[in-house]
Amino acid sequence: MVNFQYYAPTKVVFGKDTELQTGALAKEFGASKVLVHYGGNSAVKSGLLERVCNSLKGANLPYVTLGGVVPNPRLSLVYKGIDLVKKEGVDFLLAVGGGSVIDSCKAIGYGVYNDCDPWLFYSKQAQAKGCLPVAAVLTIAAAGSEMSHSSVITNEDGWLKRGYSTDYARCKFAVMNPELTYTLPSYQTASGCVDIMMHTMERYFSHEPHTELTDRFCESLIRTVMHNAQILMEHPTDYHARAEVMWASSLSHNGLTGCGTVGDWASHQIEHELGGMFDVAHGAGLSAIWGSWARYVYQENIAKFVQFATHIMDIPDTYGTLQEIALAGICAMEDFYRSIHMPTSLSELGIHPTDAQIEELSEKCVFFGKRTVGTFKVLKAEDIQKIYQAAR
Ligand code: NZQ
Ligand code: ZN
Repeated sequence: MVNFQYYAPTKVVFGKDTELQTGALAKEFGASKVLVHYGGNSAVKSGLLERVCNSLKGANLPYVTLGGVVPNPRLSLVYKGIDLVKKEGVDFLLAVGGGSVIDSCKAIGYGVYNDCDPWLFYSKQAQAKGCLPVAAVLTIAAAGSEMSHSSVITNEDGWLKRGYSTDYARCKFAVMNPELTYTLPSYQTASGCVDIMMHTMERYFSHEPHTELTDRFCESLIRTVMHNAQILMEHPTDYHARAEVMWASSLSHNGLTGCGTVGDWASHQIEHELGGMFDVAHGAGLSAIWGSWARYVYQENIAKFVQFATHIMDIPDTYGTLQEIALAGICAMEDFYRSIHMPTSLSELGIHPTDAQIEELSEKCVFFGKRTVGTFKVLKAEDIQKIYQAAR
């Protein structure tokens, strides 16, 4: 086990009708004027936005609203949010939505607090000294941004999708009512489940030995999400399945499943470039490339892939050689992705990058030669190209 810090300061308010507590919670965390930030139409249509705004009114909290966040949230709207927050004297940012809305709030918070262009942080040219307080009313179980220290923003200038992570941006509170996710299209539910699983798998595929408890957390979380994802494909309004998946989304990405391990994160970096160039749903992009990543790296530590196969995918340890067990585990995960209608190749994802685009994606992924990606196997641009090619 490597040394680690575990810091998960977000107050979680979980269960039915919890969005009605939003105003009181914002007040508890010191808000005096709130930006209510949201996405396209779902929160308006469901009446959630109105309920949240009424809750703020009930707590005598003034607010302004800004909608329009799109999946793979854009920097241009972040700039608009920064201007609005400054003009209106807002001191608290409330995301009503999923990872995209929460991340847009975090970027606005960095820009206002540090009085600068937040892209400086996402492009690794500067370090933030703080962030305005951010909180979330979660409407999709997926990104885990409601408890994570991360945020990911897409700059339309060059279509660069970049992440930035600090503890300053951790949500003060996260309101999680599983019922709010009933209205999700099944593609978004499934894509979210893949993302949740991947946040744990990125941490699980580590060479670090003696991480027994963390590994068991990981295995249990992944199995729970797989089980309930399948229920949700048939029964999207099953409260208990929604609740399991929603709680898993937060625990998968708040650090718990990585205590004492060394995360890999190559699949995420490889997918982020797809999101930047082709605007695909993040979880679907992950399922499209994961199998190709896994086959490219599994021999670095076959025992870990055997553990994955036998503990999570139920491949019997009598199945064959270690290599056969490891590969059967990878195939079984791809079968699972297919069972929830998630792609296992780029063409199934609906994109057909040319050789030149694959080269561009790979170069962007390694910041044009400034970094490598992954720890399970350290990947350079030429390795990443091979993974994209295998995923076609
Ligand atoms: O805009 P609306 O109309 O709300 O529609 C959204 C959007 O189209 C819809 N939706 C959300 N809740 C709904 C709903 N539709 C009906 N009913 C509801 N209750 O779902 C679509 C996707 O929303 P989005 O917020 O984009 O989903 P997600 O939570 O998957 O976030 C994806 C973004 O988060 C980033 C991803 O890269 C991507 O940009 N990530 C952020 C992370 C973090 N901050 O820690 C970690 C992740 O690895 C990820 O990279
Ligand atoms: Zn993710």
